[in-house]
Amino acid sequence: MKRKPVMAGNWKMNKNNSEAVNLAQQLCYKVEPEWGREVDVVLCPPAVDIKSVCNVIAFDKAPMSVGAQNVHWEESGAYTGEISVGMIKEAGCKYCIIGHSERREMFGETDEDVNRKAKALIAAGLTPIICCGETLETRDAGLTNSFVCNQIVKALAGIAASDVERVVIAYEPIWAIGTGRVPTPEAADEVCAAIRSTIAQLFGQRAADQIRILYGGSMKPENAKFFLPMPNIDGGLIGGASLKADSFAALVQACL
Ligand code: 13P
Repeated sequence: MKRKPVMAGNWKMNKNNSEAVNLAQQLCYKVEPEWGREVDVVLCPPAVDIKSVCNVIAFDKAPMSVGAQNVHWEESGAYTGEISVGMIKEAGCKYCIIGHSERREMFGETDEDVNRKAKALIAAGLTPIICCGETLETRDAGLTNSFVCNQIVKALAGIAASDVERVVIAYEPIWAIGTGRVPTPEAADEVCAAIRSTIAQLFGQRAADQIRILYGGSMKPENAKFFLPMPNIDGGLIGGASLKADSFAALVQACL
C-alpha cells in the first residue's frame, strides 16, 4: 500500500513574524513545484504567523500547506486565550497538530480534549495531526505499544472510519523530542505498526491502509533516510530541523 508521505514542520514557539515570513520564502524557493505531487508539505508556525505564511505560499503558488499547533473545540465564546477551528480555517490552515506531548505535559491537555479537537477539526474539513508517544519510564516498563495505542483509541473515539482514513498520526517518543536521541527505525516502525493494527481492529483495513503515521523526535536529514523507508512510517513531524530552510527542504526531498 503506497501512501503519500507527509513532511510537517512544527515551529513551536519560534520565529517572530519577519523570521516566519523569511523562512517560508526560503522554503518556497527550495521546495520544487513538482515535489508536491509526491509529498504533502505542512508548515506549522505560531498562530500569529499563520496568515503571513499562507500569503507567502499563495503568492509563490508553492506546494505547501499550513497547519496550526493547537486549537479549541468550541466554535466561539468565553475561552480567553483560545483560537477556534473556524478562525484557523479562515486564516488558511488545512491541518492542525493536536495532543502534542508538550501540550499534554505542560498545559494539561487530556485524551478527551484531543478527541474533542479531532472531531471539531474533522467537522470543519481540516486534517488533525494527532500526536502520541511514551515517556522513557513507560518504554522501560515495556508498556510503549499499549500506552500509545490507548492514546490513539481515545483520540479517535466516536469518529467514522471514512474520516479516520484522512487523519494523520504522529508517533513522537517523548524522550526523543529535542534530545538528539532516537529509537532504532525498527523500534519506531514497530510502534507505528501497532497503531496501524489498532486502527484496523477499530475502523477496518481500509482506514488502516490509508491513514498516514509519521515519526517525530530528533528527525534530521542525516537519519531520515533510515526512518522513511520503514513500511509503517509515512513521513515526519519535525521540530528543530524544521527551523532552517536547508534542513527542512532536505527532509522534504528525502520523501521523494
Ligand atoms: P524535534 O525534531 O526538535 O525533536 O521535535 C520533534 C517534535 O516535537 C515535533 O512536533
